[in-house]
Amino acid sequence: MKVPFLDLRIIDEDERSELFKAIEEVFDHGRLILGPEVGRLEQRVAQLTQRRYAAGVNSGTDALFLTLRAMGIGPGDEVITTPLSFIATANAIALNGASPVFADILDDMTLDPQSIIPLITEKTRAVLPVHWAGRVCRMEEINAIAAHYGLAVIEDCSQAFGAMRHGKPAGSFGVAGCFSMNTMKCFASVGEAGMVVTDQDTLYETLDALRYNGLVNREICHFVSHNSRMDTIQAAILGKRLDHYEGLLAKRRSHAQYYLEALKSVATMAQEEVNCRDIYYTMTIQVDQRDALKDYLEKHGIESRIQHFPLMPDQPVYRNSTRNNTRHAHTLIQRMLCIPASEKLTVEQREYVASKILEFTHAGS
Ligand SMILES: Cc1ncc(COP(=O)(O)O)c(C=O)c1O
Repeated sequence: MKVPFLDLRIIDEDERSELFKAIEEVFDHGRLILGPEVGRLEQRVAQLTQRRYAAGVNSGTDALFLTLRAMGIGPGDEVITTPLSFIATANAIALNGASPVFADILDDMTLDPQSIIPLITEKTRAVLPVHWAGRVCRMEEINAIAAHYGLAVIEDCSQAFGAMRHGKPAGSFGVAGCFSMNTMKCFASVGEAGMVVTDQDTLYETLDALRYNGLVNREICHFVSHNSRMDTIQAAILGKRLDHYEGLLAKRRSHAQYYLEALKSVATMAQEEVNCRDIYYTMTIQVDQRDALKDYLEKHGIESRIQHFPLMPDQPVYRNSTRNNTRHAHTLIQRMLCIPASEKLTVEQREYVASKILEFTHAGS
């Protein structure tokens, strides 16, 4: 049996015709950038994340970059973040001229709040937690630390649209929440897209200008900026996909619950906490002999990934950052493996994946 990690084809007939219809509607009205579908999507996302404003942009990278910029974070400033994320998180900080400083992670692979404290200096301006793999960080602790030291909190919710912690959605905890809606994400466009949510008037107004060349009212330029507007077609697709999003999450969560039970004797996995909802952007297991397991799965037609390796502080571009606190992350990254768990996975496929992992582990014991 072949089990891909991710299958980005759109083959379901009903989905295809619904998406084609959404695109045709955009063709009919002709407002191809920031058209009415963008505004409607922004309103829905703001409501779902319990925020006053949402600003559609063209990627998660720009959502982060523009938010940090709108907050005036720049040269000489430091932003504390996790070492475990897609490199865009650190790049968004560095592109603004600020320095990313990498704290540690917990066993559940989200940012360790206590590891932030020794890294705080007079240069620290903000904390940027990443809700890694669709699990919201311990935001009550992170927010308390940030408030104590006078730091802003910006959430990277790129992997966590719809995730909840103690009844509150990802994106509702910090000054702003930044989402990627690129085609690999759970809430996915068919290309590139992103969004920022916030309650703050000035931040929203600045973002609104920054996403289009710093123009206010489309005419007067207040800031030097580039073009980062959201395509209407992507918003139209996202709007349709949002209608079915709870169903998609139910499938992912059912795969995860199956793995949590089937693999509990051979792998360490993050258990969902009470009154929280993980969305399983990836299903990550921690095992001994990770590389050998990866090879074994590949030999049996199962694609798995190590996300995100190398850790950001080990990337050549960030290797010279000195004040990091990432010991546990370095241990965990040697043991982590992301296995197929997308909504397109079948029950037979997930059983096959679990059986091969069990087979490998039992053969070695
Ligand atoms: C945690 C995280 N941050 C930022 C990004 C950047 O988003 P994008 O690819 O939409 O620019 C991604 C995804 O790629 C991500 O997973």
